[in-house]
Amino acid sequence: MPSFALVKKTLAAIFLSATALCAQAGTIYVQADRMVDVVSGTMVEKPALVITDGRVTALGAQGAVPVPEGAERLDLTGMTILPGLIDMHVHLTGRHDMHGYEGLAESTGDETINGVIHAEKTLMAGFTAARNLGAAGFSDVALRRALAANRLKGPRLYVSGPSIGATGGHCDNNLLPPEYDAHSQGAADGPWGVVRKVREVKKYGADLIKICATGGVLSKGTQVGAQQLAQEEMDAIVAEAKRLGLKVAAHAHGTAGIKAAIRAGVDTVEHASFIDDEGIRLAKERGTYLSMDIYNTEYILSAGEAAGFLPESLAKERVVGKTQRESFTRAVKAGVKMVFGSDAGVYPHGDNGKQFARMVQFGMTPMQAIQAATVNAADALGASADLGTLTVGRYGDLIAVKGNPLADISLLEKVDVVVKGGEVVKGRP
Ligand code: ARG
Repeated sequence: MPSFALVKKTLAAIFLSATALCAQAGTIYVQADRMVDVVSGTMVEKPALVITDGRVTALGAQGAVPVPEGAERLDLTGMTILPGLIDMHVHLTGRHDMHGYEGLAESTGDETINGVIHAEKTLMAGFTAARNLGAAGFSDVALRRALAANRLKGPRLYVSGPSIGATGGHCDNNLLPPEYDAHSQGAADGPWGVVRKVREVKKYGADLIKICATGGVLSKGTQVGAQQLAQEEMDAIVAEAKRLGLKVAAHAHGTAGIKAAIRAGVDTVEHASFIDDEGIRLAKERGTYLSMDIYNTEYILSAGEAAGFLPESLAKERVVGKTQRESFTRAVKAGVKMVFGSDAGVYPHGDNGKQFARMVQFGMTPMQAIQAATVNAADALGASADLGTLTVGRYGDLIAVKGNPLADISLLEKVDVVVKGGEVVKGRP
């Protein structure tokens, strides 16, 4: 005979798992005035869709899609629906108001808590998935686990763990004098040194690899234009990552570093500020995505010292921001594949959507900007079977805005409704 306590415990466990399931399961019928179809690049009138147990199970014209019995109804009349947005470059564990020396006071514990707060802000801004590129102490892995178990509110996360880069490079900690012996977790040198880091990052739960190919704006003592990882190091990283089934994202501003990263076979180039025509040609040839954070500069230059940015960073930014926007225009014109990557964390989480208007201002059509944050992003993540489009079989992740975002892209700065996996997490009318 099992003891009474054991029976009680088992019953409690059954009850708990049933309630956890209920939060996710169920059927929802959604109708709206319009839908942005990111696959065909057209606007669809009067769409309806059904999400069952988290995934899209029917999609078509209103009237043609029957309302399942007992389904919850979400009537978005007056609104346009889009697939949930994807930001390919965020730092959820980082704060926009603690840069430079200010940031040194943050422990891994503090950063994890930052992540919890920022994950919810990001989701409420309409980003139902995000790629986190660089976090100390694997706080990003902890965050992803808690989100995947539905213990927190936030986007579906793809995380890199600590960024891998050269000693003294952009992804090392260069703020303290030698007696502190401060090194970032991902600092390594030589092909085998960086390969070991790739293995470590994978061991502790990362989904992908982030490397720092060149100097950066916000790091101390680095030249933005200078290549920091040798071709041999990047080749070794990408080869090992491929063996382990991981994608690689490369921070690269400088011309030579961008091209070396593309030649090594990285999947996305972050920033890409000083990309030249040869780099553009290589990216097209190799199918490399560019992820260009062209809103960032406005925050860095206006928040200035108040946010703790180093004077040298502000000086670098004055050159980088302008050039990066020109490069963005050239890359778009040349037809390079692009994803939406904001680098939020440098600027306030939740403001991610402000980049859309800049992407249009600097050369994209509104449709292209939306595709960069949906269908293209899912492809670059290797997650097209789950994300990026509203298609039968994929996750029921969608957002809605009042009005037409193809006529006014800035509507994506204030997303009215957010649905993740069929659950209305924001804006139930
Ligand atoms: N994390 C990047 C870096 O430090 C930010 C660059 C921001 N500037 C820009 N124009 N996108 O290099």
